[in-house]
Amino acid sequence: MSKKFKITICSGTACYVLGGAQLMMLEDLMPAEFRDQVEIVGSACLQACRQGGSGQPPFVKINDYLMESASIAKIVDYLRKH
Ligand code: FES
Repeated sequence: MSKKFKITICSGTACYVLGGAQLMMLEDLMPAEFRDQVEIVGSACLQACRQGGSGQPPFVKINDYLMESASIAKIVDYLRKH
């Protein structure tokens, strides 16, 4: 069965130094209710940091949605709402 959410964490330099390193703990900190609904993958630069207007790193993609200033709390909040 495919997962409901595919979460792609940018591990490019800009994102990594601005909070992406902490996001690597997402899998461990994911609330149990979402564990079997998410697939978490790492990615090289998503290119969002190079496009003006995309917001602030760290960037994370949840399916096709690009989240800026991502944090574990913000990601979990998004999952709760969708
Ligand atoms: S380093 Fe993350 S989008 Fe470029």
